[in-house]
Amino acid sequence: MLDCALISRDDTFRRQVTEWVGHAESNARLVLDIAAAADRLPREAVSQILESQARLVLIDLGDTTTGLRVVKALREEGPDLAILATGPSLPADTLLEMMRAGASEYLPRPLSDEEVDEAFQRLRKRVATPSQDADVQGRVFTVFSSKGGSGVTTLATNLATLVANRTHERTLLLDLNPGFGTAEISLGLTPRYSYLDVIKNFHRMDAELLDSYLEEHESGMAFLGAPPVEESEAPTAAAVQGLLRLCRRHFHNVVVDGGSRLHDALVYALRDSDELLLVATPEIATLRNLKRAQNHLAVRGLGGAPPAKVVLNQVRDGTGVTDREVREVLGAPVFVSIERDDSTVQQSMNVGSPLGESGRSRFARGIARMGDGLLGTNGRRGGRLSFLKSFRSSSPGK
Ligand SMILES: Nc1ncnc2c1ncn2[C@@H]1O[C@H](COP(=O)(O)OP(=O)(O)OP(=O)(O)O)[C@@H](O)[C@H]1O
Ligand SMILES: [Mg+2]
Repeated sequence: MLDCALISRDDTFRRQVTEWVGHAESNARLVLDIAAAADRLPREAVSQILESQARLVLIDLGDTTTGLRVVKALREEGPDLAILATGPSLPADTLLEMMRAGASEYLPRPLSDEEVDEAFQRLRKRVATPSQDADVQGRVFTVFSSKGGSGVTTLATNLATLVANRTHERTLLLDLNPGFGTAEISLGLTPRYSYLDVIKNFHRMDAELLDSYLEEHESGMAFLGAPPVEESEAPTAAAVQGLLRLCRRHFHNVVVDGGSRLHDALVYALRDSDELLLVATPEIATLRNLKRAQNHLAVRGLGGAPPAKVVLNQVRDGTGVTDREVREVLGAPVFVSIERDDSTVQQSMNVGSPLGESGRSRFARGIARMGDGLLGTNGRRGGRLSFLKSFRSSSPGK
C-alpha cells in the first residue's frame, strides 16, 4: 500500500487524486488530507506531513510560487519522499528552481486526468510500496569500532563477500567513512560516485539510477563508496535514514563499513541497523576505550538500536584478553574471535579480493564462524529466506 498525502484546495486536483487513490489497482491510500495550498500552509504542516509517513506527497502550490519553500523543507527533511507538485505555468528558470527544490514532478494547471494518471504511474515506480518492503525488506549489518585500525574495513569487506556467496542474494557494501573510505582499495575498485551523489539525487532515484552510482565487485556484490575528503559534508539524520531505506529496498543484504569515528552519519546508521558488529582488538586499553564509546553512543540515543555483537579481531594464541574480561568490561560476550593472520589478510587486500570464508586459513575460518552466527550454519537466514530465495536473481523493489 502506497501512503499518500494530499495538500490542495483545488477541487479538480483533489478529485483527480482521490479518484486515482480510490482505484483498487492503485494500491494506495490517503493518510493525510489538508485542504489548503502550499503558499498558505502553516509551519507545523511540514512536520505533520512528515509524521504521516506518507511516501508520496501531492502538493498544490496555489496560484503563486511562494509555496516552493514547503517543497524545499519537505525535501530536506524527507530526502526519499516522492513529491508531485502542481501550480501555475512556470517560466523555464522557475521550473528549474522547482526541480532543484526537490519536486520529483511538476505539472502545470490545467491538468487532464490522463496527465495525473501518467505522473502517478511514473512516481509509483520510484516508490516501493510497503507491501513489497515487508516481503523483501533487506537487512543492514553495520560493522564499526571506536579505535582506528581494529579491522572494521577488513571484516566488513569479508563479511559482505561471505553474505553474497552464501545467500546468492543482492548484497551491497556501503562505505560510510566520509573522506577516509578505504573499502574500495580493499576491493580493488575506483568508484566514480559516492553515497553523497545518491543522497543528492534521492528525489529522482529509481533502480536504474541507483545502479549507475554503484560499482560491481568481481564477487558479485555491489559497492557504494564514501565521498573524498574535499566534499565530505556530513549527511543529516534524514539523509542517512533515507539512504538505508533505499538500500534495503534494492538489496537483500547491506553491509556497512561504519569506520571508527563516531560521527553523526555512523550514529544514525547504527540506529537503523538490524545487526551491529563492534570490532575490538584484544587489549584491555582498547576495551576500555570501546566501553567509553558505548557510553557515548548511549547518551546520543542508541536506545532503540540492537545490542552490538562483539567481534574480537587480530587475536593471537595465548595473548590478549579472555572472554570473561571482555564480558566484564563491555558487558557483552565475545560473539566471535578472529585470529590475526598477517599473510592471508595482506595478500587478499593486495589483490583487492576479500576471501569471505573461502580458503583454509585461520582467518577464513573466523569469518565463516561470523557468518554462521549471523546467517545460521546452513548459510541461510531461515524463515523469511525461503521466500526470498525465489527472488534470488531479482532486485527487491524492482
Ligand atoms: N585478522 C587480521 N589479521 C591480520 N591483519 C589484520 C586483521 N584484521 C585487520 N588486519 C590488518 O590491520 C590493518 C587495519 O585493518 P583495517 O583497515 O581493516 O582497519 P579499520 O578498522 O578499517 O581501520 P581504519 O580505522 O583506518 O578505518 C590492515 O593492514 C589490515 O590488513
Ligand atoms: Mg577502515
